[in-house]
Amino acid sequence: MAKLLYITANPKNDIKLSKGMQIGEVFLEEFKQVQPDVEIERWHLYEMDIPVIDMDLLYARAKLSFMGYTKDQLSEAERTKIEKMHALADRFIAADYYVFVTPIWNFGAPAIVKAFMDCLFIAGKTFTYTEHGAKGLLTGRKAIHIQTRGGIYSTGPMVEFEMGDRYVKKVFEFLGFESLDTVIAEGMDHFPKKVPEIMAKAKEQAAAAAREMAALPVKQ
Ligand SMILES: Cc1cc2nc3c(=O)[nH]c(=O)nc-3n(C[C@H](O)[C@H](O)[C@H](O)COP(=O)(O)O)c2cc1C
Repeated sequence: MAKLLYITANPKNDIKLSKGMQIGEVFLEEFKQVQPDVEIERWHLYEMDIPVIDMDLLYARAKLSFMGYTKDQLSEAERTKIEKMHALADRFIAADYYVFVTPIWNFGAPAIVKAFMDCLFIAGKTFTYTEHGAKGLLTGRKAIHIQTRGGIYSTGPMVEFEMGDRYVKKVFEFLGFESLDTVIAEGMDHFPKKVPEIMAKAKEQAAAAAREMAALPVKQ
């Protein structure tokens, strides 16, 4: 059975409060129309105690990658944290389809997205080094990023300021993902009267993207 990982990075715990999560639900509903048997796993990052790279994790990574240590030679704190990080990456790798829902915050993604992405960069697991540089190992996977914005970044003077969607997409590209769509609902705080129109358009785009993604074959 194909697995879809639905990841939200928003402290809002009620979907009525989050426009991004409302668009995300439209995506999921439409996806299920095409693939009714898909297994959907929901990760609400704010409820997951995501490890942040600290001194223990720096030591653990160095000891395991080039100092010749095995896991049982790490300190308890180092081992606990690195195992948590690796377990998270293993669970992440196990999906076929990925939906990421984030708001733009101060030009980027919420900080928890960075902490989460830091858990995914594991040489030998999600990417490898070759003589031509690094190469992503998560090939054959499909992802979409749904991003909500208060202002406008698709055109005009703020284009270069947008670093949330660009960051998410570049990480996925680096890790080897093949399909990297984005649905953007922008200008919702600057043009509050237009919110119904912006949301309707984004939901339509999300539904179309879901149909397209659900029709793509899963990884081998
Ligand atoms: C801490 C914070 C920072 C924000 N920074 C930006 C920003 O840099 N650019 C922008 O367009 N909107 C910004 N916003 C507005 C949100 O992106 C916007 O309200 C979005 O629709 C929220 O999506 P949600 O309803 O799914 O939470 C910010 C909101 C918050 C709470």
